[in-house]
Amino acid sequence: MRSLIVLLCAVIIAAVAAPAAAEYADVVLNRRAEKEGVRPVIFPHWFHRIRFQCRVCHAELGFKMRVGANDVRMPDIVEGKFCGACHNNDIAWGPDRCDLCHSGKPGLVTGIFGGHETNGPGRW
Ligand code: HEC
Ligand code: HEC
Ligand code: HEC
Repeated sequence: MRSLIVLLCAVIIAAVAAPAAAEYADVVLNRRAEKEGVRPVIFPHWFHRIRFQCRVCHAELGFKMRVGANDVRMPDIVEGKFCGACHNNDIAWGPDRCDLCHSGKPGLVTGIFGGHETNGPGRW
């Protein structure tokens, strides 16, 4: 019994201490945004992956499964590619809602962060 409790504690501590796994965290996309005068983009991965299957984005929409690997451009989004496949005022709110995507603190670099680090709308 005692060793079981110790084991359970170890498991819980490991789970709490583990760095935010990609699926649960926010992705910051800032290859160009800040250089071109808008705030970095916060993409709440968890929020999306509980609503859609991985393959929707990582196969059908062509998002490579590596942070920073995708050259997402604003004109592509407006034309309905990448984020714009859903953020089109139909499946979800549209590309005119700049601040909902460009919500990152200035200075954030492209990468994965826990929701509390980005000031974004991420829920994880
Ligand atoms: C709504 C679209 C969407 C869905 C659904 C989605 N992802 Fe992602 N995923 C992304 C985007 C966007 C990125 C960031 C790509 C970038 O930075 O260029 C990403 C990044 C990743 C990464 C890279 C993390 C790293 O460390 O480099 C992994 C792994 C990943 N996703 C796995 C998954 C898995 C597994 C699922 C399903 C359970 C999933 N994704 C569902 C859009 C999505
Ligand atoms: C497969 C469809 C799909 C794709 C692709 C997608 N989204 Fe979303 N997104 C949604 C839906 C649906 C919602 C919920 C909209 C609502 O609540 O009205 C949402 C909500 C959001 C939210 C708000 C989350 C919250 O906490 O309310 C942000 C921010 C967001 N998306 C950013 C992005 C960005 C940035 C990309 C591209 C990197 C992207 N999304 C790609 C479907 C998608
Ligand atoms: C659905 C999410 C979303 C919305 C809404 C959105 N953007 Fe973006 N935007 C992105 C993503 C993702 C990138 C790529 C970020 C990066 O890697 O620098 C981007 C990049 C940009 C860039 C960098 C240059 C370029 O062409 O890619 C500018 C400027 C920009 N957006 C302006 C805007 C403006 C202005 C609005 C509102 C009219 C807006 N965005 C709305 C997601 C969004």
